[in-house]
Amino acid sequence: MRPLLNKIETKTAHVVVIGIGYVGLPLVAEFARAGFRTTGLDKDPEKVRLLNAGESYIADVPTSDLAPHVQTKRLDATTDAAVLAQADAVIVCVPTPLNKTKDPDMRFIVAATEDIARYQHDEMVVILESTTYPGTTTEVLVPKLTDKGGVLGRSVFIAISPERVDPGNEVFKTRNTPKVLGGATPECLIVASALYTHILDKIVPVSSTETAEMVKLLENTFRAVNIGLVNEIAMMSRKLGIDPFEVIRAAATKPFGFMPFYPGPGLGGHCIPIDPLYLSWKLRTLQYQARFIELADSINSGMPAYVVDRTSEALNDQSKAVRGSKILIYGVAYKRDVSDFRESPAFAIIHGLEKRGAHVSYMDPYVPSLNEDGVEQTGIDASTDFGTFDAVVVVTDHAVMDRKRLMRQAKLVVDTRDALRDIDGDRNKVYGL
Ligand SMILES: NC(=O)c1ccc[n+]([C@@H]2O[C@H](COP(=O)([O-])OP(=O)(O)OC[C@H]3O[C@@H](n4cnc5c(N)ncnc54)[C@H](O)[C@@H]3O)[C@@H](O)[C@H]2O)c1
Repeated sequence: MRPLLNKIETKTAHVVVIGIGYVGLPLVAEFARAGFRTTGLDKDPEKVRLLNAGESYIADVPTSDLAPHVQTKRLDATTDAAVLAQADAVIVCVPTPLNKTKDPDMRFIVAATEDIARYQHDEMVVILESTTYPGTTTEVLVPKLTDKGGVLGRSVFIAISPERVDPGNEVFKTRNTPKVLGGATPECLIVASALYTHILDKIVPVSSTETAEMVKLLENTFRAVNIGLVNEIAMMSRKLGIDPFEVIRAAATKPFGFMPFYPGPGLGGHCIPIDPLYLSWKLRTLQYQARFIELADSINSGMPAYVVDRTSEALNDQSKAVRGSKILIYGVAYKRDVSDFRESPAFAIIHGLEKRGAHVSYMDPYVPSLNEDGVEQTGIDASTDFGTFDAVVVVTDHAVMDRKRLMRQAKLVVDTRDALRDIDGDRNKVYGL
């Protein structure tokens, strides 16, 4: 048996995870739990400090999943890439954002790969987990890691397994979410599978790295396009005087051939607004226009402006102008029950309302203060009387939101999530999407 496979089988392989954020932190916890010596490598000294103190900073990873392994010195973290010299397995979980022109920003993957190349040695497996366009593994990782004589499938093993983590999901975690895996060669797939078998219930091998990359983009494009569709259904239904949420809930009773998606104030988070654009960018380089993706992006990114318009209509119905009105945004996180506000549509809604002259505050039990995207505010206390505002716009319907109190106290609610559907009260003051 090759030495690397032997080390993986006997759990004597040292696993280094580059990037210990939302994706990387659950992964280090799983590898340490499985019995591997595990190190998180991150540029962010605060994350490194917290992990070395055995403290979690991601809601889905309890501190109890980290601290015991830190105490036994099985798990640690560092900012020093030299740790890669001792690594047998390296898993790359760095960000893949868009740049200002909405093209892929590959800086983080490139920098991480260059760090690995600097400390590369024989018998190393490198697995990319970041979401990226089809071709990244063969076009970026393989050349950089075979440049100095590394032989693919013999001395270096390269694979991609795009992460599927769903923050806040209580049922599906790293272990029980099947993982798609593509190897740069059949040998690469064997070695990467051997490693993941220790931490996953089910691996789904595919025939190439490009296939694995495309699977992830299909999954996220599927969501973006379906959300785009229901957002348009919402706007069309309103024009027809129909409640779109009622339509979708009724359609969802069909036991086959329909899967419900719900409209909302716009996409948020690190994945759905961004990943499909990695695919459309790649296709543009091949003179092909990804029409569904671009249409969905245009509808979804127009939703915050639609919410601003709905708010303005709602105030108008009460003979009020947006200018001078006090408006509360309930929920700035991009989805319910999480604290992550990256790409949240709340920012565009706040800016849109402020541009029309409103005084905007926000309340979010998970986000005490904001200093992002031109919004610098401290959230107002969760017990504040909703009646002190001219309108409350529900952007994120956290489970802890006191719906009854909101219905009772608010003068006007723009309910983009249909959060008040089962709450008794004066429905004339509730405006849906
Ligand atoms: N967050 C999700 O729900 C989710 C789900 C599936 C896939 N993904 C994908 O996973 C990847 C990572 O996302 P995330 O949400 O974990 O990001 P994140 O920002 O939470 O974490 C990334 C970490 O990488 C670190 N980093 C960046 N460059 C580095 C380098 N060169 N060396 C060491 N550390 C470096 C950053 O400091 C940060 O801590 C992205 O491609 C994302 O699209 C994310």
